[in-house]
Amino acid sequence: MRSVVLAHEVDWGGWRDAARTLALSNVPPDEVVWSVRAPSDLFAEQAEDMPMPKPSGVFTVSRALVSLAETVIQAREPERFALLYRLIWRAHAGDKHLLEQVTDPEVNRANRFAQAVRRDTHKMRAFVRFREVVEQGVTRYVAWFEPSHFIVEANAAFFVRRFATMTWSILTPYRSAHWNGVETSFGPGASPADVPDDDKLAEYWRTYFSSIFNPARLKISAMTSEMPRKYWRNLPEAAAIPDLIRTAQARVDAMVNTPVISAPKPTNRFAQTVTELPSSGLARAAVEVAECRRCHLWEPATQTVFGEGPPDAQIMMIGEQPGDKEDLAGRPFVGPAGQLLDRAMAEAGIDRTQVYMTNAVKHFKFEPRGKRRIHAKPDTAEIMACKFWLEIERAELAPKITLMLGATAARAVLGRAVTISRERSKPIPLNGSTGFVTVHPSYLLRLPDEEAKAREYVAFVADLRAAAALLDTV
Ligand code: URA
Repeated sequence: MRSVVLAHEVDWGGWRDAARTLALSNVPPDEVVWSVRAPSDLFAEQAEDMPMPKPSGVFTVSRALVSLAETVIQAREPERFALLYRLIWRAHAGDKHLLEQVTDPEVNRANRFAQAVRRDTHKMRAFVRFREVVEQGVTRYVAWFEPSHFIVEANAAFFVRRFATMTWSILTPYRSAHWNGVETSFGPGASPADVPDDDKLAEYWRTYFSSIFNPARLKISAMTSEMPRKYWRNLPEAAAIPDLIRTAQARVDAMVNTPVISAPKPTNRFAQTVTELPSSGLARAAVEVAECRRCHLWEPATQTVFGEGPPDAQIMMIGEQPGDKEDLAGRPFVGPAGQLLDRAMAEAGIDRTQVYMTNAVKHFKFEPRGKRRIHAKPDTAEIMACKFWLEIERAELAPKITLMLGATAARAVLGRAVTISRERSKPIPLNGSTGFVTVHPSYLLRLPDEEAKAREYVAFVADLRAAAALLDTV
């Protein structure tokens, strides 16, 4: 047995060196015991029952695996070091497509840990609140935060970039991070008592939160899932929430009765993508949707796949849900159906970069079958749960043409079951804009005979062309 004692919970360098040495020396995973040195255990290194072997040879693993390992090591899961070493061991043994086997129990577990770390990171970035402390005439900012995972070290650089001109400390139960304006340092954990109560910034945060709070979008359950109660006691603005909720309806009424002054639209129509416009509602939704738990589909999926395209696109194309490739890439329509759609769009004279592409459901629903993930159709409850996001996309984008690809998209937009053969190829009035239904490109991929495929493809291109032509009439 080898025993590896890491210097601390996120001793990435220590773990990486040990994993490299062990793998090169052909030490199998079940012969290694991983642990973390207790802060008081000065003699832990001597606890190794066998010396580390001297390695020889070259060791390479994919960038994706390294990046996954860097995230997973932050998970508060004692088994993470061993799990990562098992993955490295398998990759080193020649399993080149390891991470693509997302239903493999070890890959799946690592992805789950990474997802939990990413979620925690998102919360930390959103909910850390600094309080001003003046000591001997010098102003410092101190924040208390309770992460679920070991994420402080990896996130320090983010707070340095964001608050570069302040001198600050972020205190957590397991570690503290400090920025003195020049360099970052880390120290032992702390307790909430180390953060002073006296808080001038509280008022600032309350005012800020009240100003970004949109009463028309009030959804208490979504709000508590986005801003879990666990964090409320450290959030000065939480004090404003009950009042904001109580007065929300009155504020909506007032908004409805206030004349609208439109913000100017960007002049470069297609150059900006949604993610380049962080202040837009779409960009906000693109960030928030990553944490969506409105139905259970998030759990086995790799990530949320939100829409993409210019925020003032005139055409919005809606598919069913991301497929296997989209789930891995995090972008809609990049797999086989997307490639067929690209070809058909080009033939119909539609430039994909000018279209906002999205799906009715934002997570991949599948049945694991061996190493493969087989597409499963989303049910009505899942479509309805995800409609929340589709409605935001539609409201923010206000496209002239909404092109629904297949029955799921049509059901989500029209709110009823749709028989494609009966309703395809003709304009459908949609609250001041125009809807248009056609088949889903994967329907063409599934057709068994070539003749039918060719015939249906021509009809599909004709539909796309007809939909785009509606731009001249609406
Ligand atoms: N099918 C869809 O409906 N959407 C995608 O993004 C990919 C395949």
